[in-house]
Amino acid sequence: MEKNGTLTLENVRTLRQDLWWLEPLAVVLGLGSFIVYTTWAALQNAHYYAPPYLSPFYSPCISANCTHVTVPLIGSWWNLSPAILILWIPAGFRATCYYYRKAYYRAFFWLPPACAVKDVSRTYTGETRFPFILQNMHRYFFYLATIVVAFLWWDVIWAFNFPNGFGIGIGTLVLLVNAVLLSLYSFSCHSCRHFCGGKLHALSAAPGRYTIWRLISGWNERHMQIAWVSLIWVAVTDLYVRLLSMGVIQDIRLI
Ligand code: FES
Repeated sequence: MEKNGTLTLENVRTLRQDLWWLEPLAVVLGLGSFIVYTTWAALQNAHYYAPPYLSPFYSPCISANCTHVTVPLIGSWWNLSPAILILWIPAGFRATCYYYRKAYYRAFFWLPPACAVKDVSRTYTGETRFPFILQNMHRYFFYLATIVVAFLWWDVIWAFNFPNGFGIGIGTLVLLVNAVLLSLYSFSCHSCRHFCGGKLHALSAAPGRYTIWRLISGWNERHMQIAWVSLIWVAVTDLYVRLLSMGVIQDIRLI
């Protein structure tokens, strides 16, 4: 907008002329599709176990009504989907993730939608008030997510254990890749990086922690990419187990 011969942002949302809206649109489509699929799959309360594979959305399965109980923590009084008991942990971990916060604040809330593009609201107060102040819970979700990841590795071990003995199927590899990607996502977390290398006056005083911190820092630089790949793959893993359990596809035994 020209004003006294000078461009001004007073009456325009942005002066950018590139396709700045593409990234928020992709996030809305990607995250939106994942949320819809995950909610649907979690509420199904069926087709989450195709021996020896357990869907990551239901792992660890902790209630007596599970088709495949991992740890019997909850009695038979629980008659809803067992996924509800566990999915709040990875959901909370992703929702409070530093990267996803940037992504969904931009894409869903338009606060702001992109660099050098105006916020839609003038009342945004950052993360200083409820509910966004709860984003500070992220480090605690990291601790809980680490426990869930440990159980995903337990599921991988069981994925080699077929009714007729040791074996490797396509599903074994699908679960293995899922555990690797979710481990990378969890351990490339900013909170993990701080947990390993934070609160030190000099990293040279703790060479072991420095080594781990450097390793995690390398993963942390790719946290966004890992976040998306692991998000897509965990849905693919659930879908694979689901289609197997429904008899739509057959697992291929490699060994
Ligand atoms: S910052 Fe993304 S999971 Fe912690």
